[in-house]
Amino acid sequence: FHSSSKLSSNHKKRCNFGIAFDIDGVILRGRVPVGGSPQALRRLYGDSGELIVPYLFLTNGGGIPETKRAKELSELLGVNIMASQVVQGHSPFRNLLKKFENELIIATGKGDPALVMSEYGFKKVLSLEEFASYFESIDPVSQYKRWTTMPQSDRKEPAVPRYNVLSKRIKAAFVVSDPVDWGRDIQVLCDVLRSGGLPGGANNNQPPLYFAADDLEYQVRYCAYLCLMEINPKRLEYVTYGKPNPFVFKNAEVILSQLQSSSCQDHSKNNGVPGSHPFETLYMIGDNPSVDVKGAQQAGHPWFSILTRTGVFQGKDNHAEFPADLANLPYFFALPDQISPLV
Ligand code: G3P
Ligand code: MG
Repeated sequence: FHSSSKLSSNHKKRCNFGIAFDIDGVILRGRVPVGGSPQALRRLYGDSGELIVPYLFLTNGGGIPETKRAKELSELLGVNIMASQVVQGHSPFRNLLKKFENELIIATGKGDPALVMSEYGFKKVLSLEEFASYFESIDPVSQYKRWTTMPQSDRKEPAVPRYNVLSKRIKAAFVVSDPVDWGRDIQVLCDVLRSGGLPGGANNNQPPLYFAADDLEYQVRYCAYLCLMEINPKRLEYVTYGKPNPFVFKNAEVILSQLQSSSCQDHSKNNGVPGSHPFETLYMIGDNPSVDVKGAQQAGHPWFSILTRTGVFQGKDNHAEFPADLANLPYFFALPDQISPLV
């Protein structure tokens, strides 16, 4: 798969494969495209900009709604990416709507976690910042944090409390993305979890805690989660989503099938009826063996894992514990002057 070569017409016609791209360390590093990723993505579209190869992004990152992320990715990568092609770590939180739609919940992490949850349909979402702002000294060192000394008018929290958190119990906590102020987040989450969701409350049944992902290799992410386990005297009850959970790959398969139905030019395998036919191969292209490769392996057929060396994995050949089906790619999206094509 080389950014300067043409997709074979056979591939276009059969439409029997799909691609799941990891974002961080494969497509982008920060906001900078890796190698020739924009050029390579453009080749998945036809001359009039129509999608000819079903593909999506499967990232454990997040913090902003999928609609916004799709727009941001489209701008950075120069192709028209739909929100349905962006599966973030927290995307499965949508499935918890029935349970918590009208309950008071708390959401934390970088970006705008409360907005993410509100866009999924949750009606009573408190950001951790807003919750903390209801308490005078929940963060005893806040005055030393220069970055929090912005005027109240510039802050997102409403000046008038929207909920009486002393009488209204928080029913669930959601770690939507990486923590920004780890110390405060751990402190506040411990308070919420250990008090049963009601500060000073007698009921200490821990409210459910959900993590968007738990890939620890990435900049020791979710340190908050590890510390919570240390601090909580009882066993911490939690659920994590994101890769490498097999259901993430099953869900990706469903989305790719839907994209295939709308993009595939050849319906001969379905008696001429538009619709999906089984994929021969689904490629998972990632940089993290214990997340991307492990996930694809656990998901089994038709997943095929490809490990790049542009992010977490920096080994020479393949990973020892989670060897990919194809590895040893210094640049997956090589530009002609970078490296010769390998696939
Ligand atoms: O914060 C993003 C990082 O944790 C993982 O993102 O795209 O490599 O799954 P990705
Ligand atoms: Mg990655």
